[in-house]
Amino acid sequence: MREVVAAGGEVTLIDTDDTVMHLARRNFERLGVSENVNFVVADAISYSRAELADIDFVALDAEGPKSCADEDLRDKAIYYPITQAIAPAMLPGSILLAHNVLLENVTKNAYFEERIAYNELQYARWHGFLSEQFDFRRSYPSTEGVGIYRKAR
Ligand SMILES: C[S@@+](CC[C@H](N)C(=O)[O-])C[C@H]1O[C@@H](n2cnc3c(N)ncnc32)[C@H](O)[C@@H]1O
Repeated sequence: MREVVAAGGEVTLIDTDDTVMHLARRNFERLGVSENVNFVVADAISYSRAELADIDFVALDAEGPKSCADEDLRDKAIYYPITQAIAPAMLPGSILLAHNVLLENVTKNAYFEERIAYNELQYARWHGFLSEQFDFRRSYPSTEGVGIYRKAR
């Protein structure tokens, strides 16, 4: 955060849950890094589309309800509509980092096998969108997995 402020930038945190946002605000304030931070309680899809511009970096860890009539809003499949909404506001060459992108089983453990099959299903539409608009795409098989993507120039 100190580097962001020094560079004249700002950070926007978005969550639909006001308890989560209250905790985030308290943590940032206690750490003394709440300057230039916008704490927003809103749906990241509609908010990003309407309010954001000139983004250098996005960290994505939203999670919709496990049971939801709209498959695109279910669990981590929500990455797809959020990325669709935020991509026009991302600068060319900017970075999207996403949590829980585990697509490779380095342990051959049955739990991870099942988890990866589930991830491939829920990320199918998101991956299609990423391959159209992001020219660098990698996932790293940490315990829960991390994906890193670069917006095409
Ligand atoms: C895995 S938690 C991550 C919480 C926090 N960002 C963190 O990194 O510790 C997923 C969060 O996604 C939020 N969420 C679900 N749907 C959302 C949406 N449409 N827009 C913004 N946040 C959403 C939930 O309220 C929940 O707090």
